[in-house]
Amino acid sequence: MANLRTTAGKLADLGDRIDKAVHAASATSVDKQHARGKMTARERVLTLLDEGTFTEMDEFGRHRSTKFGMEKRRPYGDGVIIGVGAIHERPVCVFSQDVGIFGGSLGQVYGEKICKIIDFAVKTGVPLIGMNEGGGARIQEGVVSLGMYGEIFRRNTMASGVIPQISLIMGAAAGGHVYSPALTDFVVMVDQTSQMFITGPEVIKTVTGEDVSMEELGGGRTHNAIAGNAHYLAADEADAIEYVRDLVSYLPQNNLEDPPVYDFPDDVDVPINDHDRTLDALIPDDASHSYDMSEIIRTVLDDDEFLEVMGMYAPNIVCGFGRVEGRSIGVVANQPSQLAGVLDIKASEKAARFVRTCDAFNIPILTFVDVPGFLPGVDQEHNGIIHRGAKLIYAYAEATVPKMTVITRKAYGGAYIVMGSKHLGADVNLAWPTAQIAVMGASGAVNILYRKELAEADDPDAERERLMGEYEEEMSNPYVAAERGYVDQVIYPHETRSQVIRFLRLLRTKREALPPKKHGNIPL
Ligand code: HXC
Repeated sequence: MANLRTTAGKLADLGDRIDKAVHAASATSVDKQHARGKMTARERVLTLLDEGTFTEMDEFGRHRSTKFGMEKRRPYGDGVIIGVGAIHERPVCVFSQDVGIFGGSLGQVYGEKICKIIDFAVKTGVPLIGMNEGGGARIQEGVVSLGMYGEIFRRNTMASGVIPQISLIMGAAAGGHVYSPALTDFVVMVDQTSQMFITGPEVIKTVTGEDVSMEELGGGRTHNAIAGNAHYLAADEADAIEYVRDLVSYLPQNNLEDPPVYDFPDDVDVPINDHDRTLDALIPDDASHSYDMSEIIRTVLDDDEFLEVMGMYAPNIVCGFGRVEGRSIGVVANQPSQLAGVLDIKASEKAARFVRTCDAFNIPILTFVDVPGFLPGVDQEHNGIIHRGAKLIYAYAEATVPKMTVITRKAYGGAYIVMGSKHLGADVNLAWPTAQIAVMGASGAVNILYRKELAEADDPDAERERLMGEYEEEMSNPYVAAERGYVDQVIYPHETRSQVIRFLRLLRTKREALPPKKHGNIPL
């Protein structure tokens, strides 16, 4: 026992207390985490941050609860670690929930600590990264726990669009533990060892009679591929953390800053390379054949590097980050190899959210278009394709960051307008000679325009062929739009990277403001 009347004793006492705070969770719970292939809350923080940069705050915080025998167990930290550190030498704020203490459940002190670190992140203008695992509201602390969730949600909402907020789900996260992540910009989950749900399998069984496993209900695959609540499915915790470190490198510290610029040879000329030339043969002659849009995306980005976001959800649209001349860019692209790149509810919402994220954080948007239209169907109509598809229109129209669009092939109907058209405010619109910009494809158009003629024709098939050829010549090309300035330039595919680079250089100084208003009313 240290002599607390002496300075040496007081220093030793501090050391003892720090040791207790660091080892607040029992050895058994630590072993349990490791046996499941998981890290402890502290190991996660230390893996996320640059070595030696973590400074903890409130490590001696502990609850003052006296009900249900709580007074007998008052571990330092109260089940959540908060503090500051750095990722790629840029400061960040973090919290990491410790499932080894009261099951990671959130009580008053725990909640106050999270509020404190969110406030600190907003005040200092740095990203907030939360690592989540736990059983929701701490039952023993009752309404105070619920109140603290409300305080956190309000802060997440106020911080939205001010600082980047990123959530990692590292285990089972139940009840209130899932709404804070849902309010953040990105949610990363780990395959097989992380789950999110509002009510767990047992409650569901009681209420609806449905039998479902925890993984099937709210596992990483479910949230990435079906529910759309998560943006990346990591193979393990280390992969989840690596993804977040990568993600942060594309984002600014806050909405008043630009994303970091990485070194890149700044040649005035942009020579065409062999990779660029492969694009000249990419579009199949038969419009019903597909190709992989990511071939084009990678050609344009520095070092072929592309960090996809929500890759498992609505793969008919591709969203993600890359760099052009060392500067961050957000890419939105129809993917013709998946459902022909059609726009449906899921694709519209995915892309709308991504466009708004880019706009909030000063990241220019580069859109590649090959879209046959909105997906027809009763299911789509009844599930609200009108208001859900409108989200994408809204997102593009209100985005004030530089917006560039390249039409590679189909740009039909409403989908032409939605996908970063000039009419919604894109700054530079380019088209390949293979572009088909029209109300609809030749076959549909001919059937509608010439129904009577086709019915009366001696050889309807030959007549349809002839009329389709005529329509294609007249309408299915980029030149009708180019004549009117809806397309600024028709380019050879191999010029795509060089033209994107040239225009993005100019657009660095773009300034555009929205009309003053309290806030818009995006169709939710
Ligand atoms: C207090 C809790 C707790 C909670 C778990 N524990 N949840 N303690 N409050 N909410 C404790 C357990 O008693 C146990 O303590 C330890 O944590 C580990 O729990 P297990 O159930 O053994 O772990 P596991 O089997 O891994 O299951 C994890 C779990 C499950 C799926 C998260 O614990 C669970 O379903 N918990 C309850 C979830 C829930 O309904 N929460 C309230 C939601 S309401 P010992 O001492 O035995 O180790 C809510 C309101 C906010 O959050 C809503 C805002 C919109």
